[in-house]
Amino acid sequence: MLIPFSFLSLSTHLLTLVNAQDPDLSFTHADVTASKSSLITRNGRRYACKCYPGDSCYPKPTTWSQFNQTVGGNLQLAIPPGAPCFDFLDGTIPTYNEAQCTEVQANCFWTNDTCVPIGVSPTDTCTRGYYGDYLVLARTRAHVKATVDFARKNNVRLVIRNTGHDFMGRSTGFGSLILNTHSLKDVTFHKKWTGPGQWRGGAVTIGAGVQGRELLRQANQQSPPQAIVTGECPTVGFAGGYIQGGGHGPLASIYGLAADQVLSFEVVTSSGVYLTANAQRNPSLFWALKGGGPSTFAAILNVTVKTFPDLPSSSVVLRINSTHTSDPEVFWKGVNAFHELSTRYVENGLFVYYELGELRLNVRPFVAPNMTSAQLDAVVRPLFDKLDAQGIPYDREDNHFPSFFDLYLGIFDDEGSFAQMITGGRIFTKSDFRRDAAAINSAQRFAVEQGSFIIGHIVGPGTGAPRVDNAIHPRWRDAASFSITGLGIAGNASLTEKARVQNLVTNVVGKALRDASPKGAAYVNEGDLEEPNWQSEYWGLNYPRLFALKKVYDPLGVFYARTTPGTEDWEVIDVGTKLCRKL
Ligand SMILES: Cc1cc2nc3c(=O)[nH]c(=O)nc-3n(C[C@H](O)[C@H](O)[C@H](O)COP(=O)(O)OP(=O)(O)OC[C@H]3O[C@@H](n4cnc5c(N)ncnc54)[C@H](O)[C@@H]3O)c2cc1C
Ligand SMILES: *[C@@H]1O[C@H](CO)[C@@H](O)[C@H](O)[C@H]1NC(C)=O
Ligand SMILES: *[C@@H]1O[C@H](CO)[C@@H](O)[C@H](O)[C@H]1NC(C)=O
Ligand SMILES: *[C@@H]1O[C@H](CO)[C@@H](O)[C@H](O)[C@H]1NC(C)=O
Ligand SMILES: *[C@@H]1O[C@H](CO)[C@@H](O)[C@H](O)[C@H]1NC(C)=O
Ligand SMILES: *[C@@H]1O[C@H](CO)[C@@H](O)[C@H](O)[C@H]1NC(C)=O
Ligand SMILES: *[C@@H]1O[C@H](CO)[C@@H](O)[C@H](O)[C@H]1NC(C)=O
Repeated sequence: MLIPFSFLSLSTHLLTLVNAQDPDLSFTHADVTASKSSLITRNGRRYACKCYPGDSCYPKPTTWSQFNQTVGGNLQLAIPPGAPCFDFLDGTIPTYNEAQCTEVQANCFWTNDTCVPIGVSPTDTCTRGYYGDYLVLARTRAHVKATVDFARKNNVRLVIRNTGHDFMGRSTGFGSLILNTHSLKDVTFHKKWTGPGQWRGGAVTIGAGVQGRELLRQANQQSPPQAIVTGECPTVGFAGGYIQGGGHGPLASIYGLAADQVLSFEVVTSSGVYLTANAQRNPSLFWALKGGGPSTFAAILNVTVKTFPDLPSSSVVLRINSTHTSDPEVFWKGVNAFHELSTRYVENGLFVYYELGELRLNVRPFVAPNMTSAQLDAVVRPLFDKLDAQGIPYDREDNHFPSFFDLYLGIFDDEGSFAQMITGGRIFTKSDFRRDAAAINSAQRFAVEQGSFIIGHIVGPGTGAPRVDNAIHPRWRDAASFSITGLGIAGNASLTEKARVQNLVTNVVGKALRDASPKGAAYVNEGDLEEPNWQSEYWGLNYPRLFALKKVYDPLGVFYARTTPGTEDWEVIDVGTKLCRKL
């Protein structure tokens, strides 16, 4: 994708192309302020960088205070979440608060290991590291627009942050202005959708700051109670990174990914224009926002998705661990028997969440929407017959719930964070399982033997769902199992040690998983920042169109997140600090 070109002339051409499809695209280059930049040379290479403190192009204090008025006084100096555990931020701002410190000690973030709230004393140093400098707590759509406009006009790095769950660090950025969407909590249910598209069932419009469990709770209060495709984690956001990356979850094997459910988006473009994107208005932007990558094409204000009447659901929990056997061969026979049936599970509409480590398989749970316990048992019977026949010990627990929501509250555990891990991941397709299921199982075992932990999701968003034309990797339609790999690393490890572990994740563990799945893919929300050929691994044949749309909708690079379309010509230089366009 590193084709040399003049992006202005290319995008003028594309603008004509896309304009024909997207009639509301009401901005032209004349509207986009020509940015000022700071020009830097490193190792003979020239860069035009965003403006940082100390650069002459960085906004003056008076410019910041005018901006503060524009956003109704909601501009704040960014305070890292861990700051309450320290006496001072930057040696000058008093921040200690014992109660708040205790509260944040469970959280995770990417800050260059500064201001980490665990195992520290209040007198230790706390700096902003890579966290960001200023933050707008957006309470209205006008605040979102004003923040995007300010970042563009002043060429300051913009980071959109919803929940901060992105464990690939995409909601942090050195010296950035953070647009915090957490307060945009409006939710409106529609009994019957009558807007663009074929769908005439229920729908819900979800503000940018709404999180999974609070959304499901409101859906459960509807009459009749509704279900929505969300992630399995209660605190992941919905309208931010989750849906723009694709979004899998416990209902995805029957209804498709979250990005398959979208009926309409309300957004602010990089040029500060409010747009609606749906099947009728701005259809190419609509297509790109459905899975084309977080913080890439627009700032989302809210999204409208399908809802479904909630259904009775069943679950099975399966455990095999060191309390059952200390023999790795017995253990892995059990794991393999479980995993090689992935295609069978998803073709029956099941979703399975599991954790896998050394002598530890925790399948919690198999989720069977719209099934009785007897129906679920019929699907998993071949697995348990095999475990019994081979004399593999295990624990099993069956449950039935009057609704999926009850199952969700009753069975899913709150997940810990990935703060101290370098992650990778792989989608295995049904074709891969048909080709060589044993190779997939061996690769997973190899990953664990290399010290990796696996968070597994057996999910098949192409099984029961209607085919939707969107930007997700087309191979998701054939998916059977998706694994996140994580290798532990101390936050304060040396750069050499970090590079060693990253290499293990990408080129040893990652390579084994890729080799075992030639028809597989990777998932941008839960992947490897160093994924080789990330363009095709994350988006396949959809990538060229996404690349072209990025040039049209964000020609100046106002939005940025690593390994998303069009970021090839950007680089973070000076040890993870300045974001620059390569000249
Ligand atoms: C514990 C845990 C469990 C998870 N479970 C699942 C799961 O079940 N299924 C699944 O698919 N994924 C899951 N994920 C991954 C999740 O989808 C990603 O971390 C996702 O990026 C989170 O989105 P967010 O908006 O909550 O997070 P944030 O970190 O706040 O944002 C993530 C990215 O989206 C951008 N963004 C946020 N809001 C907006 C907006 N309004 N407009 C434009 N860009 C925006 C940010 O700039 C950033 O690049 C999980 C992650 C964690 C940590
Ligand atoms: C923005 O204005 C509010 C209200 O006047 C004030 O409390 C806040 O400190 C200001 N923010 C900054 C960064 O100065
Ligand atoms: C990041 O951490 C390293 C190692 O502690 C330190 O040398 C460097 O100054 C830090 N950078 C920032 C921006 O915090
Ligand atoms: C969604 O955003 C649009 C545009 O800002 C707004 O008119 C509408 O009220 C919002 N709806 C919800 C439920 O947030
Ligand atoms: C191992 O399985 C037993 C029985 O199901 C369970 O009680 C225990 O918590 C499991 N241990 C781990 C480490 O998962
Ligand atoms: C749920 O099961 C019933 C009875 O088997 C069936 O008629 C219905 O279509 C199923 N609903 C979904 C969404 O699969
Ligand atoms: C990292 O921190 C731990 C304590 O939290 C300390 O024991 C260790 O020596 C530190 N390592 C480095 C490389 O600084």
